[in-house]
Amino acid sequence: MATALVTGGTSGIGAAFARALAARGDDLVLVARNLERLDEHAAELREQFGIAVEVISADLAVHDDVMRVAARLEDAEHPIDLLVNNAGFGLHTKLLDPKVEIHENAIDVMIKAVLVLGGAAGRAMKARGQGRIINVSSASGWITQGNYSAIKAWVRVYSESLSNELHGTGVTVTALCPGWVRTEFHERAGIRTTALPSIVWIDADRLVAEALQDADRGKIISIPTKRWKFASFLASKGPGVLIRKVSRMLTSSRD
Ligand SMILES: NC(=O)c1ccc[n+]([C@@H]2O[C@H](COP(=O)([O-])OP(=O)(O)OC[C@H]3O[C@@H](n4cnc5c(N)ncnc54)[C@H](OP(=O)(O)O)[C@@H]3O)[C@@H](O)[C@H]2O)c1
Repeated sequence: MATALVTGGTSGIGAAFARALAARGDDLVLVARNLERLDEHAAELREQFGIAVEVISADLAVHDDVMRVAARLEDAEHPIDLLVNNAGFGLHTKLLDPKVEIHENAIDVMIKAVLVLGGAAGRAMKARGQGRIINVSSASGWITQGNYSAIKAWVRVYSESLSNELHGTGVTVTALCPGWVRTEFHERAGIRTTALPSIVWIDADRLVAEALQDADRGKIISIPTKRWKFASFLASKGPGVLIRKVSRMLTSSRD
């Protein structure tokens, strides 16, 4: 029996990971800020799947909270076999915006916490000679849409680097690069999505099923669905001038 720790496991992609892992019999540790919601989700999963679910209420923008989660990952008596570094949010704030604290908060949650938790999980898993780490990046990391793209590109490059450090240890690292997924993400960030055609959307459960398959195969970059593999290929190999133009168009469609 395995145990997985999922950050942001109460909504959207994280909740889909929690359901899929519970369905295959894994015990869970769910991390998010809202304790009431954590308890509700944990109770549902215990009842539906008969698994053990721990909850940790933590704000991953707060150093001491991140260190509490890191300590749980390094608890040798209760090992974690899979870390899903998923918690995050959309960022609709311009780089020139003087409210730098919005950018700092995003960096704390989606970079610093990912780095600290990935390191803690990597050390503990390496000592046991097995484990999986999935870091949720984004297709946005292939384009140039402000700080969010920069952060998600960091998550992808970080994952590749961590997988190099863990090469040959039995521990694999996968950067999951989703396209658009219907979750609370866009509404929370105030991003309008009404103009987007239905073809660009991926179902969260399908995304997670492919991601888990990729992680089990030891793939370092996971891009679920053929259409998003193609779009990501174009974005990563296409001419920079075109990618920047498309990025400007996408950004201005949100204003
Ligand atoms: N949806 C998309 O189209 C899409 C596409 C590509 C990548 N992604 C990435 O996928 C990940 C999950 O997003 P989602 O779409 O599933 O969003 P979501 O539905 O809004 O879920 C976000 C989850 O993260 C938790 N969270 C947010 N801030 C946190 C903090 N400071 N500390 C701890 N937990 C926090 C939330 O719980 P609390 O509010 O209770 O803390 C919630 O469980 C993010 O990293 C996002 O960047 C999403």
